[in-house]
Amino acid sequence: MAHEELPIPIFSSLEPVYGGGSLLDEARIRFDNLKSKFFQVFGHQPQLFARSPGRVNLIGEHIDYEGYSVLPMAIRQDTIVAIRKHDEGESPKVLRIANVSEKYTMCTYPADPEQEIDLKNHKWGHYFLCGYKGFHEFVKSKGIDVGVPVGLDVIVDGTVPTGSGLSSSAAFVCSSTIAIMAAFDVKFPKKEIAQLTCDCERHIGTQSGGMDQAISVMAKSGFAELIDFNPIRATDVQLPAAGTFVIAHSLAESQKAVTAATNYNNRVVECRLAAIVLAIKLGMEQKEAISKVKTLSDVEGLCVSFASDRGSSDPVLAVKEILHEEPYTAEEIEKITEESLPSVLENSASSLAVLRAAEHFKLFQRASHVYSEAKRVHAFRDTVQSKLSDDDMLKKLGDLMNESHHSCSVLYECSCPELEELVNICRDNEALGARLTGAGWGGCAVALVKEGIVPQFILNLKEFFYRSRIDKGVINQNDLGLYIFASKPSSGAAILKY
Ligand SMILES: *[C@@H]1O[C@H](CO)[C@@H](O)[C@H](O)[C@H]1NC(C)=O
Ligand SMILES: *[C@@H]1O[C@H](CO)[C@@H](O)[C@H](O)[C@H]1NC(C)=O
Repeated sequence: MAHEELPIPIFSSLEPVYGGGSLLDEARIRFDNLKSKFFQVFGHQPQLFARSPGRVNLIGEHIDYEGYSVLPMAIRQDTIVAIRKHDEGESPKVLRIANVSEKYTMCTYPADPEQEIDLKNHKWGHYFLCGYKGFHEFVKSKGIDVGVPVGLDVIVDGTVPTGSGLSSSAAFVCSSTIAIMAAFDVKFPKKEIAQLTCDCERHIGTQSGGMDQAISVMAKSGFAELIDFNPIRATDVQLPAAGTFVIAHSLAESQKAVTAATNYNNRVVECRLAAIVLAIKLGMEQKEAISKVKTLSDVEGLCVSFASDRGSSDPVLAVKEILHEEPYTAEEIEKITEESLPSVLENSASSLAVLRAAEHFKLFQRASHVYSEAKRVHAFRDTVQSKLSDDDMLKKLGDLMNESHHSCSVLYECSCPELEELVNICRDNEALGARLTGAGWGGCAVALVKEGIVPQFILNLKEFFYRSRIDKGVINQNDLGLYIFASKPSSGAAILKY
């Protein structure tokens, strides 16, 4: 059976997830600590644990929400959720969510799954609530009765750095949702869990595309995954052994939930508007375009047939000839759609917030990025599967990563000065290619480096990027390992009855 059809695996020991060696030792300490903390806080043993990893996206940035395939791999850093479901008669009927680190104070919510999430007061526990609501909506849609709401006790231990672009939020939402499912003793295929955890992040106000949840749920040790959407599917991609991916934090935090209206959700809206304008200019009736066209992939066919009349197969040709580089004003787009933008965007709260914050819309640039980046993902996969020599293969992959970064930086404008500096330092120190990864606007870069020079490469980055920041007290020398590390593809979500 295809692995997206399987349920989340359940293990009674840590080895299948953490392998052996120091990773396993470290995991043992975390689980033991979680257990004793759980007893100390709640006076009971946890019923079970669920864990979900963070991820690094190797190529294919900001295109998952446009319906295009992406190519991430899971990293070893993960979020573990320990949970106990109360019996029906037990009080209090509340959700109590604590973190092993007392820096994060306990969040308490009613057990009512219909409650709204208070977005005005951002709390770290909101992500758990997202999964909780998502779970209840999902079982309801399936006609499964899980009984009256009861209390849940939860403690979280996360090692995916927040604001790093390594998807700590998806690791938290996925591990929470899977822990809740396991506590209620229901099982679903991985692809349904990936979809539901993606959909439920809208409760927290991000219009997530699904990559982060899909890889966290479906990753397999030793492989990157080509993730396709509609329907969600994961295909194993074996990376060349001669290269290693090094992940380095720019130390600028990207706060997806907080800056959504001007950054992440803004780009989602710009792509939607670009797709609708392209559809109309390519002959689709306005009403039909507004109701049917949601993503740039929906109009790729029209763009390709426009291009093929001109002897090309590249949708970017249509973008170049039909859209103008000058940013569009709202009025100009409304003239094309003959409908107001709030109404085009169905008055969704997050889209209205984008419209309020936006001065103009860069339709040409965003569409050019999306179509060209979608092609690079397939070129990357084809290169990995080709018969090229190791050297030629690595060089080709590095070039694709460089081109991706350029497109993210110039056309999609999701980089920042710290990321530019970091990517340049990577390239100056013999990376075969380097790019920002994750949503951008801060967070991490990923560099492809020849296996043999990894230790020296890391030393050089310490010297040329981190040294001055350590001297200024931005980070602590002892914490460097959290900010720069090499990573092999690690395994996906699991339930542990340990
Ligand atoms: C829990 O605390 C750790 C710090 O020990 C932090 O890295 C992690 O992100 C926190 N978990 C959540 C879900 O906020
Ligand atoms: C990517 O960066 C490397 C290192 O600087 C360089 O050798 C290569 O030519 C670059 N490729 C592109 C497409 O910029």
